[in-house]
Amino acid sequence: MTDRHDTPIRLADYTPPPWRVSTVDLAFDLAIDACEVTAHLALVREDANAPLRLDGEGLELLAIALDGRPLAAGEWRYADDMLEVPGARDGSVLETRVRLRPADNTALEGLYLSGSRERGFLLTQCEAQGFRRITFFPDRPDVLACYSVTLRADRARFPVLLAGGNPAGAGDLDDGRHFARFVDPHPRPSYLFALVAGHLEHRERDYVTADGRPVKLKIWSEADAIDRCGFALDALERAMRWDEQAYGRNYDLDVFHVVATHDFNMGAMENKGLNIFNAKYLLADPAVTTDDEYRAIEAVVGHEYFHNWTGNRVTCRDWFQLSLKEGLTVFREQQFIAALHVPALKRIEDVALLRRTQFPEDAGPLAHPVRPAEYRAIDNFYTATVYEKGAELVRMIAGRLGAAGFRRGMDLYFARHDGRAATIEDFLAALGEANGLDLAPYLAWYAQAGTPRVTARGEYDEVARSYTLQLRQSTPPTPGQPEKRPLPIPLKLALFDREGRLLPLHLDGAASAGATECVVVLDEAEQSFVFRQVETPPVPSLLRDFSAPVILACDYAPADLALLLAHDPDGFNRWEAGQQLARRAWQALRDGRDDDASLAHWCAALRRSFDEASLDPALLAELLTPPGEIELTEGDTAVDPVRVHVLRERLERHLADTLGDRLASRYHELSAVGDDDRLDAPAQARRRLKRRVLALWALRDPAAAFAAAAQQYARAPGMTDRLAALTVLVHREAPQAAAALADFRARHAEDALALDKWFAVQAQQPGDAALARVRALEADPAFTMKNPNRVRALWGSYAHGNPSGFHRADGAGYRFLIERLRALDALNPQVAARLATAFNGWSRLEPGRREIVRELLAGLAAEPRLSSNLAEILARLLA
Ligand code: ARG
Ligand code: ZN
Repeated sequence: MTDRHDTPIRLADYTPPPWRVSTVDLAFDLAIDACEVTAHLALVREDANAPLRLDGEGLELLAIALDGRPLAAGEWRYADDMLEVPGARDGSVLETRVRLRPADNTALEGLYLSGSRERGFLLTQCEAQGFRRITFFPDRPDVLACYSVTLRADRARFPVLLAGGNPAGAGDLDDGRHFARFVDPHPRPSYLFALVAGHLEHRERDYVTADGRPVKLKIWSEADAIDRCGFALDALERAMRWDEQAYGRNYDLDVFHVVATHDFNMGAMENKGLNIFNAKYLLADPAVTTDDEYRAIEAVVGHEYFHNWTGNRVTCRDWFQLSLKEGLTVFREQQFIAALHVPALKRIEDVALLRRTQFPEDAGPLAHPVRPAEYRAIDNFYTATVYEKGAELVRMIAGRLGAAGFRRGMDLYFARHDGRAATIEDFLAALGEANGLDLAPYLAWYAQAGTPRVTARGEYDEVARSYTLQLRQSTPPTPGQPEKRPLPIPLKLALFDREGRLLPLHLDGAASAGATECVVVLDEAEQSFVFRQVETPPVPSLLRDFSAPVILACDYAPADLALLLAHDPDGFNRWEAGQQLARRAWQALRDGRDDDASLAHWCAALRRSFDEASLDPALLAELLTPPGEIELTEGDTAVDPVRVHVLRERLERHLADTLGDRLASRYHELSAVGDDDRLDAPAQARRRLKRRVLALWALRDPAAAFAAAAQQYARAPGMTDRLAALTVLVHREAPQAAAALADFRARHAEDALALDKWFAVQAQQPGDAALARVRALEADPAFTMKNPNRVRALWGSYAHGNPSGFHRADGAGYRFLIERLRALDALNPQVAARLATAFNGWSRLEPGRREIVRELLAGLAAEPRLSSNLAEILARLLA
């Protein structure tokens, strides 16, 4: 690969750009095989001693001129992805013309082709460093410029021409060609550049911003999916209104385009005025989109839109600051979804995601701070840590400031940094100054990797009627960071009496005496908090609403957790009490202890919840779900993932037996409601519960549950019920599975998003049989290594989403993945590197598996010609 950086880039080495660009004028002559890009850059010199050096990767330079004068061969140099023009002066205009080959671009970075040569369309992906594959430029986010873009192409082949900015003319050219021009008045970094050209259709809506700007909203897709754009259009409008109300932020161009593509490395991209989405996160149709996906679409549409202020208007100084825009935007997205739906449920989903993805990352060889200190391939840092933990840090700080204080701080942040590139220090300074607070202590959270562990011990003094909560924190070492320091950890808490009633709190030294909830901040290694006037030995409810991204250990008796599971009005902590009970029950099974009451308490409490009429069915579904296989092994060593799976299933079986015949009757009750074709929240919640009940029922009475599932499959009006049924049949190896799979394959033969589910559900079949299935599916004509969604559906679901199938004791799963990584890396390094993170937990595996993995990783890492993306991941896995 040409982008191979063998020496890491370090945050500590940051220096301001020696050259800036005030305006960029780009002209594209577009075609499938060869495009020409002409760029005019108006240069501003910041450092009198630095020669002009511009990034450029794999560009075929056709012409170069400075201030209108063509340059001779000795007046420029292009080597090692850098163009040097020593003669450039302050105020010079550099003109370059290059040739690109979009149809040959399999990395899907820069300008590439989506779909077939005959019917597909051209598009770009520039974040993080794709713009340098389009033209020569100081391709770093702290160089902000004003862009004007002209697109020219054959009208019949490329009827639609889009770029970010306001339309500034369009018309015919000679020879059946046409053009369209766009001007963006807002200065922006190069990574937000985008264009789209080809056969696309659109749905549109008129919108007027709160400050009175009329805006055309347009969602674009290929013709076959145009009827699937309506939901996203509604979601976009909701997101725009919400940002006006919650943050006073208005949209700032006359048009807003959103385009769907099936060929995309990531989820979606917030290019200024021209968002580009993986079709999976934009197109919605009940026949192929599950309820979970509907919610994901709404969230991602919101996320990309919110970037217009957090990311685009205020951008990042350098890529180390990535969480400045991503963590903050995920937080805003979470607030948006919470405002529209059930907040406790959203919180449960987000924490479950954090634990499933970020905690393992933070506990393994790939651990890095939310603001990393160095990287080789920045694309490897679009991680759960930067996104999800980053969002938790913003949430923690927002909680510290309160809603009004946070809004004040955000207003100051926008006012101060609009049109500029900022740092995480700038962010904390604005939030702090607007509130007369010093938030600098929170910077430590951004610099220190690893999940802090908090241990809580409570002691009741009957005579003094006081309750002392003793808290300790420590963070285990992570790669490159052997020593850790204490962090400020806000712990939201409440106390319950033994009847499950909230107690008034009288905390020593605190103002609001008598409230039933308070926040204490643990900012030393060890601290105690004393509550007075506590009339009875209390049960503490700690870390309510997950007030900090930590792992909490508290010396609860199982009965205490059962009490919280039954009574805590904080929906999140109620779920959390159940998770902890289930985890303890699982550990007791693992260790062969039968003296532990957790299992009995967990099952009994859930039996009561099961019949609780006022409980939201979606919340009940979550209560009935124990922690996942990856979460359960948190902190363990010598892990045998197959055993983890078997024991977790045993736990579920106990629950299923406890619920007994209620499972069948609840299933029939939920099926009889007759709302299967509705998308409203109550209907979705019932489907969610029905899916969970069916899965539990299949553990207890397989024959009856399979028959019901087969019927559900056949009659389902939408994908949610159909896929839920198919999953039970396939994963439990029901006799009806083969017929259902064949039906699904035929029914959705032409539908990429549905077929991805067909691949994924089979790749996730637990146990040793999965690998043979995955191999067989590679021979399906619909499988291709060139499409990231398909690769993720088959190989990704197997390696990331099927621990008991991937971690075969014989290592065949590992050998399979290593071979596939080798092939994939040559085509698409970003997707290969992401897939390789499936090996993340390898050093905590039991010795047999661990040795197999070590050897395989070392073998692959030793190969020449790996991309810098994959090479970096392998090096960190092995360090
Ligand atoms: N900024 C995009 C988002 O909304 C993600 C783009 C990531 N691209 C990449 N090549 N890593 O989260
Ligand atoms: Zn983002």
